[in-house]
Amino acid sequence: SSGSGFVVVANRLPVDLERLPDGTTRWKRSPGGLVTALEPVLRNNKGAWVGWAGVPDVDLDPIVEDGLELHPVPLSGDEVADYYEGFSNATLWPLYHDVIVRPVYDRQWWQAYVQVNRRFAEYTAKVAAEGATVWVQDYQLQLVPKMLRMLRPDLTIGFFLHIPFPPVELFMQMPWRTEIVEGLLGADLIGFHLPGGAQNFLYLARRLAGQPTSRGNVGVRSKLGVVQVGFRTVRVGAFPISITSTELDEYSRRRSVRERAAKIRAELGNPKTILLGVDRLDYTKGIDIRLAALEELLHDGRVDPADTVMVQLATPSRERVESYKQMRGDIERQVGRINGEFSRVGYPVVHYLHRPIPRDELIAFFVAADVMVVTPLRDGMNLVAKEYVACQGSLNGALVLSEFTGAAAELRQAYLCNPHDLDSVKDALIGAIDDDRDTRRRRMRSLRRQVLSHDVDRWARAFLDALATDRVAGSALL
Ligand code: G6P
Repeated sequence: SSGSGFVVVANRLPVDLERLPDGTTRWKRSPGGLVTALEPVLRNNKGAWVGWAGVPDVDLDPIVEDGLELHPVPLSGDEVADYYEGFSNATLWPLYHDVIVRPVYDRQWWQAYVQVNRRFAEYTAKVAAEGATVWVQDYQLQLVPKMLRMLRPDLTIGFFLHIPFPPVELFMQMPWRTEIVEGLLGADLIGFHLPGGAQNFLYLARRLAGQPTSRGNVGVRSKLGVVQVGFRTVRVGAFPISITSTELDEYSRRRSVRERAAKIRAELGNPKTILLGVDRLDYTKGIDIRLAALEELLHDGRVDPADTVMVQLATPSRERVESYKQMRGDIERQVGRINGEFSRVGYPVVHYLHRPIPRDELIAFFVAADVMVVTPLRDGMNLVAKEYVACQGSLNGALVLSEFTGAAAELRQAYLCNPHDLDSVKDALIGAIDDDRDTRRRRMRSLRRQVLSHDVDRWARAFLDALATDRVAGSALL
């Protein structure tokens, strides 16, 4: 075949193969923000998606469904352990999230990361048409741009990092720092959520990827968002990702959704205030911090357990990685302690679910919640914050948001807090709960203006337009 003109490459396909107890399988939506953002983009652009189906040891044929081609890349059990759970999620993930948990540097994991990145590059080289545009996604595949360029110099290659790019001092811990920077520099355009991440990368490209030239100079030069690598020019910029804002706004206004939201409130005992947390169960999300803040507010008597309910929806994630197992135990103990002390029979203060939540049910929770609580210690963007805002057409809700999320750069009218400062989290919660109606409405109106005018299509267009043009265009680039 002639191949696809537009190819997205990500560790995960937008759907996950699920093995049921009776031995059969079915497809379900993959977890996480990357899929939430990219799935609609790819549907609109009619492209191909190269990625892993989420289970080890299955080799599947490509699947075509209404204009979207899915090309599954197989991973063995050992590769899942070493490349995915190991290098991606016990090395890169904690390193890029400010070493909240200590990253493990393991040579065997690195070998698996190289090997799997090569496989992704080889699959993509087969799928992409002559002169195609390939868009490589996220920290699991940072070596793919360079590997793919060697196989297919005809391609236009973009790369986008969905998580933070760390401060220089932290990145320098990485034993394979030069290989990673050189891997990324195989792209024509490298995108980050925030200008700070792009600047960190530019500095590192200069410091690590420079080869002395015949004149004794350094062969990689970077200035104003441009890195010169030999004869190639690589551009670097900030492109804050978003959601399908208008679609979600409209969906959340449907009668069926509003009825479900009212029913949720009734099921919770018609409290005055519903606080809501929605996260993958991940130590970066600061779930423990919001629970600690709530616990102190209950102790201080500033929050009344008779009229306040907290709902924490936690999607299971990376469950075989040690730090995730530990954190799950810690949070479940914390929930138990708060409920033990402050609940009445039949009316727990904290409702905690550890299971995937269907999309329509999640949206009903966004509509029902009075205060959305988003307190990560570090988060590339945090799309849940934007989803909540899109669902608050009533203007009744308030958003508590950590300064350490990418979203905080845009959502300045949220109740911002520093998750390292428990008093700051408590004050933000109290403000969001107790401020008068007019203040809350004014703040939500401002948040909605931002989210509704900056949707995921605009993000994708900004990136793909910059990738398609040679000039350094637009304010997105540094
Ligand atoms: C984050 C990452 C994605 C990842 C998602 C879910 O959003 O940026 O690359 O897919 O989490 O994590 P998982 O490990 O289940 O793919």
